[in-house]
Amino acid sequence: MSFPNHRPRRLRTTPAMRRLTAETRLAPADLILPAFIREGLSEPSPISSMPGVVQHTTDTLKRAAAEAVELGVGGIMLFGVPEVRDARGTASLDPEGVLNKAIRDVKAEVGDDLVIMGDVCLDEFTDHGHCGVLDAEGYVDNDATLEIYGQMAVAQAEAGAHVLGPSGMMDGQIAVIRQALEDSGHKNTVVLAYAAKYASAFYGPFREAVDSQLKGDRRTYQMDAANRREAILEVELDLEEGADMVMVKPAMSYLDILADIAAMSPVPVSAYQISGEYAMIEAAAANGWIDRRGAITESVLGIKRAGADTVLTYWASELAGWLKES
Ligand code: PBG
Repeated sequence: MSFPNHRPRRLRTTPAMRRLTAETRLAPADLILPAFIREGLSEPSPISSMPGVVQHTTDTLKRAAAEAVELGVGGIMLFGVPEVRDARGTASLDPEGVLNKAIRDVKAEVGDDLVIMGDVCLDEFTDHGHCGVLDAEGYVDNDATLEIYGQMAVAQAEAGAHVLGPSGMMDGQIAVIRQALEDSGHKNTVVLAYAAKYASAFYGPFREAVDSQLKGDRRTYQMDAANRREAILEVELDLEEGADMVMVKPAMSYLDILADIAAMSPVPVSAYQISGEYAMIEAAAANGWIDRRGAITESVLGIKRAGADTVLTYWASELAGWLKES
């Protein structure tokens, strides 16, 4: 086992040799594009903390979805920004509400050529910005929230979503959503559980993207960054409740969690490279401190290498374009 019999550099000599021996590969089909649509917009509105990402109009969202199909992107995850909010997030249930309508519009545009996913969560729709409804003490009421999630899930399935992504971290959310889907005849609607979702400072830019009304934090429902074993429990529960796929979120500061989940999960594992991760790389690249394309590619490759089968990333279409050309 000694030099010169072993020279690991032999497999690094040429681009062709490196390509042949690469252990991990990125493909457009592994990528999911998160996209925002805002009600009542006539022009797309830039999100200043996420340069290159916009709040879409119906037209530009449809175009982005069609472009994703052309590039071979695997899926699109839709988030809606409503004009009117209330304490219970009522607009999330309106079939003509911004998110349900967006699902229908994207479905009309791309049909089944792109996997259409909807965010099942109340934070975009509540006037207090929490992911659920509040009790008299201002604590997020788990079981009262579940009832609304079930109705939201049915509304999105009815609008044509292929996949629902419950992201609120309420206990029992997968069971309630699965039951509501079965009871309403949507037995083939897939549930992608945000199973291990951590309370993270890196969600910052997303709050701008959805005009979040949140004051305070989500630490009574999202996981504590200190915890590793607990992620296994969250995934086990979601699997028991009927999750078809599971997600780890955020990605880059949680690659150990992702590797743990990839090792134990019998179902496909997603990771969400979130808004703050996007913003960090864009900001450093804009300052000329890092090579943009290299850093983006390496970051997504690292997430796949850690065990993700699919990656939600705001660079999905751009990266898919690069993969196609190389
Ligand atoms: C909740 C939700 C959030 C994100 C996706 N779904 C925000 C939060 O939990 O505070 C964050 C995604 C990102 O930061 O890119 N509906």
